[in-house]
Amino acid sequence: MNYLEALSRRYSVKKFNRKIIPQEILSNILESGKLSASSLGLQPYKMVVVESEAMKQKLIPAFYNPSQISTCSHLIVIISKRTVEENYLNGYFRHISEVRETPLETLDPFRNSIDQHIQKNHDDIFNWAEKQSYIVLANLMYAAAIENVDTCPMEGFRQEVIEEILEINSDIEKATVTLALGYRSEEDHFQHLKKVRKPNEKLFKFI
Ligand SMILES: Cc1cc2nc3c(=O)[nH]c(=O)nc-3n(C[C@H](O)[C@H](O)[C@H](O)COP(=O)(O)O)c2cc1C
Repeated sequence: MNYLEALSRRYSVKKFNRKIIPQEILSNILESGKLSASSLGLQPYKMVVVESEAMKQKLIPAFYNPSQISTCSHLIVIISKRTVEENYLNGYFRHISEVRETPLETLDPFRNSIDQHIQKNHDDIFNWAEKQSYIVLANLMYAAAIENVDTCPMEGFRQEVIEEILEINSDIEKATVTLALGYRSEEDHFQHLKKVRKPNEKLFKFI
């Protein structure tokens, strides 16, 4: 399947068939989230992958329309950072130094520019971090579509309920968006609806 076929086949599933995604395919999809680009490479997010049936059941009341949660194979909750702390930056630079086998000092100019960026945008860090999370969401959806795995991105949930269940410290993190994954149910009539998209002349401007 080429990528346009995969993206045309993709739709936001309302009801899955409860089939479980094989582990290897799930790992590939998660890897695409891991490989996402992020501003300054800081990856100001993490992903909670809900696979236990008991945890899915627990999360159902957090969603306004939970039919996806009760039938999906996995649910990914993308958690964005509200702040980028000194500690986090130190860890990031230690990691670069290890992976690229570079002495920490050679990274000083990059570290200084990041420090300046974080200071300058201090009040807006969360807004910035959330944007990065949506790039991860898009990559996960795209990879899933290529793997023939269906998805539904979902923002329709009570954030405070999810955060309580997942024991997220809301002073430093936020449950931004979720992605249900699995295989479409034959009963889900949404799969037969035509895609509604703006015509090219309203969407693209060539200059
Ligand atoms: C960030 C985001 C949040 C969404 N939240 C929900 C949601 O909470 N529940 C839902 O059923 N669909 C949700 N959707 C799916 C959209 O309604 C859907 O993508 C749009 O109507 C286009 O339809 P399609 O994805 O089937 O092509 C969301 C989509 C995005 C990108």
